[in-house]
Amino acid sequence: MLKVGIIGVGTVGASVANILKDNADIISARAGVEIVAKSGVVKTLGRDRGVDIALTDNPDDILNDPEIDIVVELMGGIEEPYEVVKKALKNGKAVVTANKALLAYHRYELQDLAKDKAFEYEAAVAGGIPIINALRDGLSANHIESIMGILNGTCNYMMTKMANEGVAYDAILKESQDLGYAEADPTFDVGGFDAAHKLLILASIAYGIDAKPEDILIEGIENVSSEDVAFAKEFGYAIKLLGIAKKDSNEVELRVHAAMISQDEMIAKIDGVMNGISVVGDKVGETLYYGPGAGGDATASAVIANIIDIARAGKSAPMLGFDKPIEGKFTLKPSGE
Ligand code: HSE
Repeated sequence: MLKVGIIGVGTVGASVANILKDNADIISARAGVEIVAKSGVVKTLGRDRGVDIALTDNPDDILNDPEIDIVVELMGGIEEPYEVVKKALKNGKAVVTANKALLAYHRYELQDLAKDKAFEYEAAVAGGIPIINALRDGLSANHIESIMGILNGTCNYMMTKMANEGVAYDAILKESQDLGYAEADPTFDVGGFDAAHKLLILASIAYGIDAKPEDILIEGIENVSSEDVAFAKEFGYAIKLLGIAKKDSNEVELRVHAAMISQDEMIAKIDGVMNGISVVGDKVGETLYYGPGAGGDATASAVIANIIDIARAGKSAPMLGFDKPIEGKFTLKPSGE
């Protein structure tokens, strides 16, 4: 039996605990071993979290528990989870995180620390879509020419509602928060930073680019109004927040901004909380991935896929570009040139 400790029992953490129980039959059949959620960490005790695992407010209760094999980090933030993940790895635990902000800043140090231990993060990019798996495994024979995608469910949900129902920006942002799509600080969503964090993770896997959010162009949707979205729709366009990585010889350009896309394009038809990512490989051509980019069960689905992988293999597959930067291979191209 493998035991899981969940640090951060919010929307996603509660889903992880509940799906491990609800789908225990198929999960244990696929993992080859029984997997149970043993305990979870919350900031404030005393509130019902809809889970039946033991709760504590001290991460050390999980990090120092010799029975815990796999630590799932879902705390949010950067510095606190950085310390928690480092300690978990040092204590010999496998780690699964959905924390894109953490990875945007510390992915190389953590991967280096993990060495031959398991450190996985499928849920960090595009919620339930197995895009990390696709880039790392499915497309591993290809040089990646470009990645272009809707990487933030909250912004896409907001802009879809603005286009179809003319709902005002503030009201629809509040609705995204109530649905559990938005970040604790929704500036990360509407400011484009969350999409940028995810783009940097994908660019690391595809190109070995060791860039931080400060190094790339990031624009959000704060200046996009319901009128803009409705106006674009009238003329046959959708406005989408895109994360774009484009290879040009030895340089890669990374940028996040809103763009008008013809409604004839597949990506323009991706509505609501859904994410969609086009990846072009030099041999395979264009591939497109579509699915829920946020939400408890969808994101937990990706977290648990990593847990099952770890149960099967015991450690992560080496990841070129993420284990360490591919020095001198690709450099960051200044955006907007
Ligand atoms: N706030 C994020 C989004 C959650 O809306 O896409 C999933 O990463």
